[in-house]
Amino acid sequence: MRGSLIAFASVFISGIVFAAGEMDEFRLIDRGDGSPPRMMRLRDAFSFSKTAHEAGRCAGFMDLTGQPTFTSPAPFAVESFKLNLEDRPLTQGLYLDSSLPLIDASRVSDTVKELSANRNRYYRSEYGVQAAKWIAERFKGLSRNRNDVKVELFSHSFEQPSVIASIAGQGPHRNEIVVIGGHEDSINQSAFGSREMHAPGADDNASGVATVLEVFRVILESGFKPDRTLMFMTYAGEEVGLLGSQDIANRFRKEGKSVVAVMQLDMTGFPGAGNQVVFMTDNVSPELTKFSQKLMDTYVRVRWGTDRCGYACSDHASWNRAGYSAVMPFEATMSTDNKDIHTTRDLIGKLDFNHGLAFMKLGLAFMSELSME
Ligand code: BES
Ligand code: ZN
Repeated sequence: MRGSLIAFASVFISGIVFAAGEMDEFRLIDRGDGSPPRMMRLRDAFSFSKTAHEAGRCAGFMDLTGQPTFTSPAPFAVESFKLNLEDRPLTQGLYLDSSLPLIDASRVSDTVKELSANRNRYYRSEYGVQAAKWIAERFKGLSRNRNDVKVELFSHSFEQPSVIASIAGQGPHRNEIVVIGGHEDSINQSAFGSREMHAPGADDNASGVATVLEVFRVILESGFKPDRTLMFMTYAGEEVGLLGSQDIANRFRKEGKSVVAVMQLDMTGFPGAGNQVVFMTDNVSPELTKFSQKLMDTYVRVRWGTDRCGYACSDHASWNRAGYSAVMPFEATMSTDNKDIHTTRDLIGKLDFNHGLAFMKLGLAFMSELSME
């Protein structure tokens, strides 16, 4: 009780409101560099990743505090939900011919504008909570008078909830789930711990959230009725160690939920150099990645390439760790991505929604192809 009172107390230091306790809390941190997870202050985990970023290297961490550890490979039922992707035929060509043109990149741009107009979407700030509620309302607005759609807030041990919108499957395997998601929170790495930080997070990751919302809108507007259940997720607390997605993926695994495929969209708006879509090859399923590349060639028809994050850089790593198949298409190579993320300069003006269109198309192809039994 005392501990949580201290953690929630805020003090005013040099003009910035800091959440007093949270940066000094000891957490179980996995830095993804091969060293075993260890207890350290959240502040020190952040300086590790900030120092690396400033030195032009990429590094991050996964906050494993309170999360279960799994033996690998995943035991039990989850394994049996793996689809045979190698031989899986593509069957949604006709549907996609008529639905891909319904995608409207200007809606994605409008959503990014609205989301990035918040002071921040920090996982422990009231702005972050409001942004999550705003996203939930958008899902609800888009699915009015649909009784096969459910929109839920998924709460965590911190203030910001994640959001999950589901379209119920209609087939005999309706208990199987296909997920598309991205994180809703934002951060300013120079103001860790401040609930009043300026963190517009237009590219990181209003772009991914807006893409998820647009895929949801088009699926509904086109009258698509999936065999499997489709879930559209926006995760809380990614920027502080993948907290929201770990809670969700680990809960799903504990409950034996059969998630057959997960697409992670984190940063889709900034055109780096060269390939338009870059598939990350670490902490993902190679089979699902290959299948998604086939969707690129068949339906999206823009150039793609591959790269590595080199660490658990986003929420796909949470799913992967829980034994599920995930894929992460990214805006650019690591060396040509948007260098203004985690600052006040991550603004919509740097983004190109024609570049982002490839991710909207890929997301729609992914959800429709994988949802049919
Ligand atoms: N969107 C970034 C991850 C990213 C950045 C991927 C650049 C590829 C290129 C993500 O939101 C992020 O910032 N992640 C943290 C790690 C997190 C687990 C603390 C990071 O990269 O420091
Ligand atoms: Zn991100």
